[in-house]
Amino acid sequence: MGQFEILKDFVFGISRSRVSLIGAMIVTVTTPFLFGYMLADTVWHIKNPYFGGAIYLALGPAFLGGLAMIFVGAFFFRGQREVHLFTLQYLRKYFTEPDMFGRLRKNVFLIVLLTSVNFVVFSMFLYRAYHYMESTTFCGQFCHTVMNPELTAYQNSAHSRVACVECHIGAGADWFVKSKISGARQLLAVAASTYPRPIETPVHGLRPARETCEQCHRPELFHGDKLSVDRRFLDDEQNTEVYDVLLMKVGSAGDRVQSSHGIHWHVAPQNKISYRATDHSRMVIPEVRLTREDGSEVVFKTDDADKQLATGGTLVEDREMDCIDCHNRPSHVYLPAEEALDNKIAEGVIPVALPFIKQQALEVVNAEYTSREEAKAEIADRLSNWYAKNYPQLPDREQLVVKAIAGVQTAYTENVFPEMNIGWGTYVNHVGHGPDFEVGCFRCHDDMHVSSDGQTISADCNTCHTLLALEEESPEILQTLRDE
Ligand code: HEC
Ligand code: HEC
Ligand code: HEC
Ligand code: HEC
Ligand code: HEC
Repeated sequence: MGQFEILKDFVFGISRSRVSLIGAMIVTVTTPFLFGYMLADTVWHIKNPYFGGAIYLALGPAFLGGLAMIFVGAFFFRGQREVHLFTLQYLRKYFTEPDMFGRLRKNVFLIVLLTSVNFVVFSMFLYRAYHYMESTTFCGQFCHTVMNPELTAYQNSAHSRVACVECHIGAGADWFVKSKISGARQLLAVAASTYPRPIETPVHGLRPARETCEQCHRPELFHGDKLSVDRRFLDDEQNTEVYDVLLMKVGSAGDRVQSSHGIHWHVAPQNKISYRATDHSRMVIPEVRLTREDGSEVVFKTDDADKQLATGGTLVEDREMDCIDCHNRPSHVYLPAEEALDNKIAEGVIPVALPFIKQQALEVVNAEYTSREEAKAEIADRLSNWYAKNYPQLPDREQLVVKAIAGVQTAYTENVFPEMNIGWGTYVNHVGHGPDFEVGCFRCHDDMHVSSDGQTISADCNTCHTLLALEEESPEILQTLRDE
């Protein structure tokens, strides 16, 4: 009976305040959906990003907001009389008059009861919301077009089963908060459509730290060299297949049984390499400092380093080299046009039997398009016209061309996103040096960074790999290895 009275009291309280009424309406409307959806999500782990978005970014906060309004309305804005709640005299009356005190007790009881229920709901909600916001679905798909390039490139990478947060959010609460603040800012930017196109690389923000990679990889335990065989296709009529064969000196960061050597020598605990870059994206590096285990230091500088560093202003930063200075694109791998097409030809997706397909494909994918739809249509048009004109007699022409078109379109759409201003080569990959020997390793290894005693950071082709074959149709080394 007592409970019934409290409830009546409570409903009465709510009905006297407009704020509470609105709150109660919101709660009533959202509750069945919120619970139903949350239950469904818990049981079936629904992957649709908008489903999660609807629950955790819209329904949930609306529900909580509604609850808050009920309380605020019921206890503080119930009209004239309640304003006295804040005066000492009024409070004294409350506690001394048995009648009023009874009412207070009931109110307190009700608050405790409702708060306990809410606490359970709230924890459940927070827990589910936390998981949702940590999911690849949320990170990669909620902001559909915005993250589409990163998601596509990620799905085509070796890390496609590593969750976005494993790399982008470090350990500890401060990272969580940092990422959510940044996330909230990003959501606003998406809503207002003010986000940058392409999305800026988080060189100074949510870029992963070395410890992140070392959760899974241990360069101390790497060892030896790795044979790398690249299949490529020339732009002649036969699309001649050639090989580059390199022995990569992957090396090791060194541990108890081996000393540091080769490429991963840079991340050995006893070597500290730091550098000063003069631009935001760390492409221009005039000064590199190597500190050895015994404390000795070597500084390598370009001839105009002092001038560049002096005029660089606030952009000049001192940074200790880590994994990401080389592996800046471990998961968002956008290939150069040639490599994307070579891979598709090697896989047979683009038929190598079609004369000049490498040359023609390269030409159409390199043209400028304003959207992916336009690109796909143009690729189809131009290739079918070119083959109709130049190879009208080719047996099975139509079939081959149709297949080639699909392959070329895929090579394009996996790597180019005109809506986000991402073209071939927008994001530079620092593992390597590009065909022009100027990016990646060559930011330092260009023989132009000189120490005071005349040493340089080596650009010798055999520092990092042994070139076993370059553009050869049938490299001797492969014949030997395959025992042909
Ligand atoms: C293996 C680690 C790793 C995983 C997994 C990963 N990222 Fe990244 N991400 C990086 C690194 C490293 C960079 C910085 C690239 C640079 O500095 O050039 C980056 C950059 C970005 C950028 C900035 C734009 C750009 O391409 O430079 C966005 C946006 C992004 N990641 C979103 C995502 C999303 C969404 C997911 C999950 C679908 C994800 N990342 C998964 C490592 C990762
Ligand atoms: C949660 C575990 C995990 C984390 C964190 C992680 N990786 Fe990996 N990484 C893997 C796995 C698993 C593979 C092997 C995938 C395969 O072979 O299919 C891999 C492969 C690689 C490769 C070989 C790539 C290739 O194309 O063959 C490189 C390089 C690499 N990771 C670098 C990094 C860097 C740099 C980071 C930090 C930004 C990082 N990883 C973070 C699990 C991880
Ligand atoms: C100086 C540049 C550089 C640094 C720094 C660096 N790596 Fe590498 N890493 C490379 C290169 C180059 C390769 C070989 C790539 C290839 O085979 O094409 C490689 C290969 C790898 C591989 C694949 C190994 C294999 O046997 O295939 C993994 C995993 C990896 N690195 C992880 C890391 C991690 C983790 C760190 C940081 C602790 C790191 N690397 C630091 C340049 C670097
Ligand atoms: C920030 C500058 C910097 C970058 C970028 C850089 N290196 Fe180095 N690297 C150095 C320095 C400094 C040395 C030591 C030179 C010396 O001792 O004469 C070195 C030495 C090396 C060595 C010899 C290690 C040994 O066994 O003594 C190899 C191999 C190497 N780098 C490979 C690479 C590769 C591959 C890349 C690109 C993926 C790369 N480096 C990018 C600064 C850099
Ligand atoms: C500081 C280290 C370093 C030096 C010096 C260096 N390279 Fe490389 N090179 C690399 C790395 C790392 C890769 C692998 C890139 C990758 O995995 O995609 C590479 C890849 C290559 C490839 C293969 C490209 C492909 O995908 O088929 C060729 C060819 C090549 N290098 C030629 C040279 C030549 C010629 C020189 C001398 C002028 C040279 N390199 C100097 C680090 C180096």
